[in-house]
Amino acid sequence: MASTLGQELSDSGQVNTLLDNLTEQILAIGRRIEGVKPADPAFEAKAAADIKQLGEVRSRPLFYNYMGSGIGRGPYVELTDGSVKMDLINGIGIHLFGHSHPRVVRATLKGGMSDIVHQGNLEPNQEYLHLSRKLLSMAKKNSRLNYVWLSTCGTMANENALKMARQKKRGARMIVTFKNAFAGRSTMMTEVTDNPAFKVGMPDYNEVLRIPFYDPKAPADRSLAALKEHWAKHENNISCFVFEPMLGEGGYRAATHDFFQPLLEFCKEKGIPVWADEIQTFSRTGNMFAFESLCIGQYVDLCTIAKTAQNGATFFTEEFKPDPGLLGGTFSGSTPALSAGLEILNMLDDEGYLGPKGKIMDIHRNFVGMLNELNETTCKGLLREAGGMGLMVAVTPLDGTKDKQLALLKTLFKNGLIAFGCGSDPYRARFLLPAILSPEDIQVAKKIIEKSVLELA
Ligand SMILES: Cc1ncc(COP(=O)(O)O)c(C=O)c1O
Repeated sequence: MASTLGQELSDSGQVNTLLDNLTEQILAIGRRIEGVKPADPAFEAKAAADIKQLGEVRSRPLFYNYMGSGIGRGPYVELTDGSVKMDLINGIGIHLFGHSHPRVVRATLKGGMSDIVHQGNLEPNQEYLHLSRKLLSMAKKNSRLNYVWLSTCGTMANENALKMARQKKRGARMIVTFKNAFAGRSTMMTEVTDNPAFKVGMPDYNEVLRIPFYDPKAPADRSLAALKEHWAKHENNISCFVFEPMLGEGGYRAATHDFFQPLLEFCKEKGIPVWADEIQTFSRTGNMFAFESLCIGQYVDLCTIAKTAQNGATFFTEEFKPDPGLLGGTFSGSTPALSAGLEILNMLDDEGYLGPKGKIMDIHRNFVGMLNELNETTCKGLLREAGGMGLMVAVTPLDGTKDKQLALLKTLFKNGLIAFGCGSDPYRARFLLPAILSPEDIQVAKKIIEKSVLELA
């Protein structure tokens, strides 16, 4: 059958064999990684100089002395100083399948064979369609979402969602969201974010209204009462209610279906667009979308994702279709990223990761169980409130102060494990666990966490 030259390239047996061989060569090098190991004195000085220089060109140093060497194996990653760390933060959630996963490596290489590096909204290649189609087929299962628009990061996906909500509401300004929300780094998303440290010197645009997040100890209707108050004051000047299904940067606090349901019912009753920011939760909570885990998909008008998909994306329903000219932009995603993103989603779908008995929930139970065990034994009372959803797990370490949290993160890094912080009052240590974490890996993590906590206790 006749095919385009591009199809011929993609189907070529010779090219595909070369790709298989190249993938195998990469993996063979990665297999030499056996586990956590300290820096190699032979590489330490050069690595330190590079990291210092990176700090200088950016004007600010990196949080960790982390510069990847370009190779890893599962949860392990090699750094340019020759050390190997256990990576339990994964670029803040980008590398869902850890480092150098065979299928991800191959899909990335395949994307790299393209005639172009980046795809644009004016001139897309087929990878744009394939990723969009896959995303939509997943989103449609338990929601009314039936369109998707790609973008290159979560913040841009959020900007697009906000524009669609505001256009639908004829220029309404106000945005309702939770206290302690995080929404990204653009001017508007910084405004939506509720962390003063992220907006020092920024003007206040006074377009954001906040309601408290779920707290099992607070009166059940506290958040609904706050939402009603906002509605009474602003009515149709409210453009949307945007929420993270679980507070991310705000402390990895999960909520229940019964918490969200009355809020979302009220939004529906008043015609307030409902927008789920799933940039962090997407693919991690045991279902593709946290709105499925919480059984609230029917309420969602707009949904944003990024990270795992290797690209940003904004989903929307029929009623939120943007007018021509509202959305655009040069980049829609790099071809290797679009190709790898599709492969990652296929793996999630067909390799038993999802569902209550899937691999993700197994990892959650094992990891939280490990933290609780430490909290009850050798690290008594020093690892409190372990929890979260699926592959998003956090714990309140030591006395829950910022100083101790930072000290623990740096000590974990020194001892070979990478985590990150979230929340304030208390300050928590969080883990964005890779979906390939084995029970043996969790035992390795346990030893490092225990050693690090005891060093600081
Ligand atoms: C809930 C949420 N929204 C938005 C963003 C911003 O995404 P990005 O950093 O890709 O712009 C993030 C990133 O961590 C996030 O967690």
